[in-house]
Amino acid sequence: MAQPKLIASEADVTEVALAAMACTPNPRLRQIMDAFVRHSHDFVREVNLTDEEFEFGLQFLARVGQANTDLHNEVTLAADVLGISTLVALRNNPCSHGQTASALLGPFWRQHAPGCSNGDSIARSNTPGEPLLVSGQVRNVTGRPLVGAVVDVWQASPVGLYENQDPGQDVMNLRGKFSTDAEGRFYFRTVRPAGYPVPTDGPTGELLKAQGRHPYRPAHIHFMVSAPEHRTLITQVFADVPEALATDVVFGVTQPLVGCLERGRAPQVWAAGAAEAHAGQEAVCTLEYDFVLQPGVPTFPEPPIK
Ligand code: BEZ
Ligand code: FE
Repeated sequence: MAQPKLIASEADVTEVALAAMACTPNPRLRQIMDAFVRHSHDFVREVNLTDEEFEFGLQFLARVGQANTDLHNEVTLAADVLGISTLVALRNNPCSHGQTASALLGPFWRQHAPGCSNGDSIARSNTPGEPLLVSGQVRNVTGRPLVGAVVDVWQASPVGLYENQDPGQDVMNLRGKFSTDAEGRFYFRTVRPAGYPVPTDGPTGELLKAQGRHPYRPAHIHFMVSAPEHRTLITQVFADVPEALATDVVFGVTQPLVGCLERGRAPQVWAAGAAEAHAGQEAVCTLEYDFVLQPGVPTFPEPPIK
């Protein structure tokens, strides 16, 4: 076996480091770490990274990790504002067979949202805001409605905070899990979401400030839609002004995910329940959005917070 090479100068470091990892038994780990070393060494060379900058970068990463708690995920947030989360979501979920577009999960999904019946409100504590009726159908790529699909929804309050960020909201406020009916339909009541700033009190916020970037996301509702024998869809539906859509700080907006908030009569599915809930209101705000799942194995992400 060839003797490992001694490093003679900076130019040798990459080759020697790659050789040291070349026998990694897991081929996928070998591929990933080989590429990571090559790209990160190229990065050091391209920007001529100084000692101070290297130290600062390491400290920044350490602070990102230290800012993580059960209720706050700074690591996810940092990946989100760099566009990495959106890139991974879009690469792994192309819309090639007519399925609904994906969007990043974000740092605020929680497991075990309360189970709800269609027509329920996800506003569990007093949540001032404009009432909104959300409805849609879940289908497979051939157009067949999926009965019993689980639609897990979460959103920020109209003041721009998720319940886990806001002691003023009940636990699991504006979160809920619905099951589609015999026609594959789901429908629920909520309050109209507003755009909001991502948390800026940690190192990710410092980075945004140093880059001269605003911290805002356009108004949206998150959906995780799952059904047996189908790939789980993680996405968001947006409704906001064009400028807000085009400058999402985490790059989550794609054209097919722009929904339409309308003021008018409640859709058919609401006929009984909504008539009661919105008696006396001339026109109610509605959002209709259908989801199409592709065949596959349902999987679920690690929850970013508890
Ligand atoms: C969210 O939409 O919940 C979100 C996504 C990325 C960063 C922060 C928040
Ligand atoms: Fe969100």
